[in-house]
Amino acid sequence: MATKTSLPQSFTLADLTGRQTLVTGGGRGIGLAIARRLIAGGARVAIADVDFDGARAAAKELGHGTIALRCDVRSSADVDAAVAAAVAEFGGLDGLVNNAGIEIAKPITELSEDEFTRVFDINVTGTFRCTKAAIPAIAWAAIERLWRLEGRGHPLHRVGCVRATEPGHPRQRRVPRHHRHGDGPSSRCTHRRDRSDVLR
Ligand SMILES: NC(=O)c1ccc[n+]([C@@H]2O[C@H](COP(=O)([O-])OP(=O)(O)OC[C@H]3O[C@@H](n4cnc5c(N)ncnc54)[C@H](O)[C@@H]3O)[C@@H](O)[C@H]2O)c1
Repeated sequence: MATKTSLPQSFTLADLTGRQTLVTGGGRGIGLAIARRLIAGGARVAIADVDFDGARAAAKELGHGTIALRCDVRSSADVDAAVAAAVAEFGGLDGLVNNAGIEIAKPITELSEDEFTRVFDINVTGTFRCTKAAIPAIAWAAIERLWRLEGRGHPLHRVGCVRATEPGHPRQRRVPRHHRHGDGPSSRCTHRRDRSDVLR
């Protein structure tokens, strides 16, 4: 079987214009390559790395408003500060790349418990810390994007749709007869359409 050495011709870069992403461990290696790819798609990138000099060199090389942040993913305080700094710089955050990680290349019989714990703290718990810190900003950015795309009011207002399905709710009067199901004053059709709009 032929070995794939490059991306297929059909691969097209997503348009990431206006998106902002935090890349942990983006100072070199795979993280730097990911940052480069995000920028090629139009995104702005914050590089959060325990190696601050490496992060700064990478940010300088990448340009396009890339920022460098000192961050050890073993520290919740560092992670929270890095997310806050990215949000403050970009005005929001759309994505997180949990790339920071280490490898201690030893057979398990030679691996100490401290070494295993260090790998786990960075590769696994570090991913948890970063995701936990970034999710509120990322979720809010998604809501704001929907809000702008729809131009029909804030998506959270649609929570009112649930109440609007109840018989007797004033909204029932505005549901065209052909949109109703059965004989009752149900607006399930309208309600479903509203929800799928929000989740699109
Ligand atoms: N290279 C591979 O073949 C390979 C294979 C499988 C998985 N991975 C994973 O992909 C990721 C990147 O690999 P790579 O080869 O580019 O590694 P790399 O060692 O070249 O780069 C890792 C980056 O993470 C940073 N980093 C390390 N510890 C950190 C910490 N505590 N907090 C913040 N930043 C930290 C480093 O400073 C560095 O910039 C790692 O998570 C690695 O485990 C790599």
